[in-house]
Amino acid sequence: MKGLPSILFLSSLHFLVFNICTAVDTVSPSQFITGLVSSGGRFELGLFPAGNCKAWYLGIWYKNFSNIVVWVANRENPVSGSNGTFTLTQNGSLVLLDQMNNTIWSSSSSTIVEDPVAQLLETGNLVVRDKASTGSESYVWQSFEFPSDVLLAGMKLGWDFRTGLNRFLTSWKNASDPSLGEYTYRIVNLSLPQLVLAKGSEIKFRSGPWNGLRFTGFTVLNNEILTRSYVYDTNELYYSYETKDPSLITRLQLTEWGEMQRLVLKEGSTEWTELYNLVNDRCDSYGECGANGICKISISPICDCLNGFVPKSQQEWEVLNWTSGCIRKTPLCQKEDEFLRIQNVKLPDLLNFRINKTQAIQECKADCLKNCSCVAFAMSEGCLMWFGDLIDMREFIDAISEQYIYIRMPASELGDSSQKKKRVMLIAVISATCVLLFLGLSCWCIIRKKKQRKRGSRSKKENKELPLFDFQTIAAGTSNFSRKNILGEGGFGPVYKANLGQEQVVAVKRLSKDSGQGIDEFKNEVTMIANLQHRNLVKLLGCCIEGEERMLIYEYMPNKSLDSFIFDQNRKKFLNWKKRVDIIVGTARGLLYLHQDSRLRIIHRDLKSSNILLDNELNPKISDFGIARIFGLDQTEGKTKRVIGTYGYMSPEYAIDGNFSVKSDVFGFGVFLLEIVSGRRNRGFHHPDHHHSLLGHAWLLWHKEKSLELLDPCLEDSYVEFEVLRCIQVGLLCVQKLPSDRPVMSSVVFMLSNEGATLPQPKEPGFFTERNSMDGDTLISKGRSITGDVITITTLEAR
Ligand SMILES: *[C@@H]1O[C@H](CO)[C@@H](O)[C@H](O)[C@H]1NC(C)=O
Ligand SMILES: *[C@@H]1O[C@H](CO)[C@@H](O)[C@H](O)[C@H]1NC(C)=O
Ligand SMILES: *[C@@H]1O[C@H](CO)[C@@H](O)[C@H](O)[C@H]1NC(C)=O
Ligand SMILES: *[C@@H]1O[C@H](CO)[C@@H](O)[C@H](O)[C@H]1NC(C)=O
Ligand SMILES: *[C@@H]1O[C@H](CO)[C@@H](O)[C@H](O)[C@H]1NC(C)=O
Ligand SMILES: *[C@@H]1O[C@H](CO)[C@@H](O)[C@H](O)[C@H]1NC(C)=O
Ligand SMILES: *[C@@H]1O[C@H](CO)[C@@H](O)[C@H](O)[C@H]1NC(C)=O
Ligand SMILES: *[C@@H]1O[C@H](CO)[C@@H](O)[C@H](O)[C@H]1NC(C)=O
Ligand SMILES: *[C@@H]1O[C@H](CO)[C@@H](O)[C@H](O)[C@H]1NC(C)=O
Repeated sequence: MKGLPSILFLSSLHFLVFNICTAVDTVSPSQFITGLVSSGGRFELGLFPAGNCKAWYLGIWYKNFSNIVVWVANRENPVSGSNGTFTLTQNGSLVLLDQMNNTIWSSSSSTIVEDPVAQLLETGNLVVRDKASTGSESYVWQSFEFPSDVLLAGMKLGWDFRTGLNRFLTSWKNASDPSLGEYTYRIVNLSLPQLVLAKGSEIKFRSGPWNGLRFTGFTVLNNEILTRSYVYDTNELYYSYETKDPSLITRLQLTEWGEMQRLVLKEGSTEWTELYNLVNDRCDSYGECGANGICKISISPICDCLNGFVPKSQQEWEVLNWTSGCIRKTPLCQKEDEFLRIQNVKLPDLLNFRINKTQAIQECKADCLKNCSCVAFAMSEGCLMWFGDLIDMREFIDAISEQYIYIRMPASELGDSSQKKKRVMLIAVISATCVLLFLGLSCWCIIRKKKQRKRGSRSKKENKELPLFDFQTIAAGTSNFSRKNILGEGGFGPVYKANLGQEQVVAVKRLSKDSGQGIDEFKNEVTMIANLQHRNLVKLLGCCIEGEERMLIYEYMPNKSLDSFIFDQNRKKFLNWKKRVDIIVGTARGLLYLHQDSRLRIIHRDLKSSNILLDNELNPKISDFGIARIFGLDQTEGKTKRVIGTYGYMSPEYAIDGNFSVKSDVFGFGVFLLEIVSGRRNRGFHHPDHHHSLLGHAWLLWHKEKSLELLDPCLEDSYVEFEVLRCIQVGLLCVQKLPSDRPVMSSVVFMLSNEGATLPQPKEPGFFTERNSMDGDTLISKGRSITGDVITITTLEAR
């Protein structure tokens, strides 16, 4: 999408010419414009497309990151066609018009100004004010009052009681549809406010109640870069933040899949990083442990019943299904009741509660005892009492608050639990002693081992130490390898997103268990691969070994893989022609490095669009390289009995005979190149006129000199003809049937980046036979197993 706003500028040249060349940040009545840029150049306002380039929206985005839209005016009412304009009326309303001058959207300010002007401020706020005054009091309308899915510094989330305005975030429907999505993040319940993240009416996360100063239930409080303000008075109730360092760029975003992310742009960097996610661990997810349960992230399993309670269904509890929660062992109000004090917990949800702001603790306690349905109380903004079940409690690990809650229980139980406590203490002391002894012993062993190793490992010295990640950390960071955290499923196992705390988000590849390698061999292999560094390779950060488990830890790429862009009707627009050429060339450079320039001469063997990841600037990074080596398939050229690859990307000689060489990767690269140019998958390609694959189709068009027809229709506005033709020619050369007819990667890079280079004429590509209606029939025959996308052929004979 990066190029689109500028295309818009060009196509609208017939509108006022004078403000097209110099970016302006203000608009006065009767000026018709298509864009504004804030004075310091941080934000830009204009129209952007979504859907099939048909729906256009008025929005504000970072000038340097045009795919990060922070505000949308007409979320539910797009302009159909790109020729929208917007203007300011004499009375100070901003209006968005389509090309027939129909009003699509208008700001409805109640105040009329004499001499209005609209301005896009450097904070990202679009304001309407009187020309003569500049203070924030003089704004008659501002976009900050109507947030979309992003909370920028200075924006308020919450209520203005004077006007009845409630500002809250609503997610986009999906990444390419800015209309109102299911998720909201807002301040609810005015008698004692809480911040709530919800999907429709289902609560996903809540901040815990207000305690007069702040919300009590956040586990992520990073105060180093932000100054937060919480305001609750008769006029207003809101949360907002400012950055301590004004040059720091940050945003809080409610994603379309329901995460609240704090993202920052590191100084001097062009990459956004996720600083934290509001839902920090499993215990943050609403009501994880059911009624009267308490979530403790430090223990396993994480759910426990409150003291005096037992699981409602022991059976379900044992299979870690906590939904039905816990019930009392002994009912209340039988004999005498007492209170058990618990510290450092998130107060339960305010479902059925009472608050008396003037009561002190003794009165509060007495009041609670008077009513048999009162189950707990706490002192927070006064006396807070709960009736009925206690939902969504968690334990905080770090002593964040001095907050106590008093849980009511029969006095008999209380004695019980204090005796239990003593027993627990004793056990704890004994185990601590044991642990200490054990630790001492292990330290001694490790030191001894290290000394031994130092003597015999000089050859390894040139490699940097490979960081070993702790299994527990990874398990916790992936919510115990929860399906929710799966980013993708590769040929060698699933990939998880792991949040390791302290701003570190990584991708974890959990290798399937048949690598057949010992620990030392594995470590050695991983270390060598981790030392390969190239800007077009995903960085391998380390590994994790635990028993049979082998995991590789990679840098995390928030933009996911290339196939999630080019094969997606909506996201493909973010990659214009220039960007696609950059991705092709970058990938070629990465592959060249693997083949030729690195010390290891690596054949990737599974190059495909889903193995090309994109960083924040949409630079390509090859992933999964070198895994074939880890799996013990480490010859540089030869034959293998075990073919690993993906149907549609495998060269004929590799798929059929198990012969592989750098030229098999070149074939895979050619397929990838034709896919990115056409925006279509080789696998599953269909054409009404013939049964050829994408490669065959490309060849037929080339033969008829109609190659441009192969181009992704979405690129119509941005392509450069001779570049397209050259790319397609290189692509066809790479997928030639005979390995000797395919160029090596250094030639590919040369051909792609030199306009003057003369290219050989391609011949028929590999697999140029019409297929039966069943895709893939020609290739996969007996004895070969297919698992999803990846086929593993195990019974091939090495001929
Ligand atoms: C945008 O990017 C350019 C070049 O990378 C940089 O010089 C400029 O400071 C950036 N602008 C902002 C507002 O960050
Ligand atoms: C926008 O205006 C241009 C120039 O007048 C015209 O060629 C184009 O067809 C218009 N686009 C749409 C979508 O109406
Ligand atoms: C301002 O003008 C717009 C369009 O001209 C109109 O729709 C709107 O009602 C006016 N607002 C006020 C407050 O008069
Ligand atoms: C829209 O309004 C502008 C300014 O009044 C005018 O120049 C233009 O011709 C109008 N366009 C249409 C399609 O009515
Ligand atoms: C996004 O939503 C639109 C309309 O709601 C739908 O047509 C489109 O397929 C969705 N895109 C994705 C990637 O889910
Ligand atoms: C909000 O507070 C009122 C009264 O204080 C209470 O009755 C109501 O249940 C609360 N609503 C929610 C959604 O917590
Ligand atoms: C957990 O138990 C509830 C009944 O209490 C049942 O409805 C639900 O399906 C169970 N969940 C799973 C994952 O088994
Ligand atoms: C709050 O508590 C005080 C003292 O116990 C009592 O006088 C007052 O009526 C209570 N207020 C409410 C609203 O219950
Ligand atoms: C106890 O408290 C509940 C909830 O506030 C209330 O409905 C009920 O009437 C009270 N019972 C008594 C005996 O005061």
